Amino acid sequence: MRQGSQTPGWFGFVAAAALSATPAAATGDRALGEYLSSECTACHQSSGKQVGGIPAIVGYPADQFIALMGAYRDKHRDNQVMQTIAGRLTQEELLALAAYYESLKPTQ
Ligand code: HEC
Repeated sequence: MRQGSQTPGWFGFVAAAALSATPAAATGDRALGEYLSSECTACHQSSGKQVGGIPAIVGYPADQFIALMGAYRDKHRDNQVMQTIAGRLTQEELLALAAYYESLKPTQ
């Protein structure tokens, strides 16, 4: 069951972000991302360690992170929790999280 996409420009936007010169150009507010990530660290370890089948998400390039979250939001990827979380994020919040997680290095 697919729901209609609310933002038809999504993939164009991701492509534009991916093509921009530097990762930092993806205008995400890293500080906001760090703040928002408190919701994620309940499951995803910020050390980059994979725990109990929950993948590590630190160090993902922003464009890849955004594409993954888009896949949950648009229900191309099956995971109820992640679909709900991704569906709730605004574009600004998503960019912020992408900038934050991109900046982290796995420390395990
Ligand atoms: C209740 C637990 C939980 C919370 C909270 C959670 N996630 Fe997840 N997340 C998961 C699980 C489980 C998966 C693997 C789902 C699958 O098999 O597709 C996942 C997958 C992901 C992936 C894909 C990783 C990959 O390599 O495939 C990303 C990106 C992600 N989550 C980001 C986030 C972000 C950002 C937040 C906070 C806004 C968040 N998650 C909050 C449980 C959670």
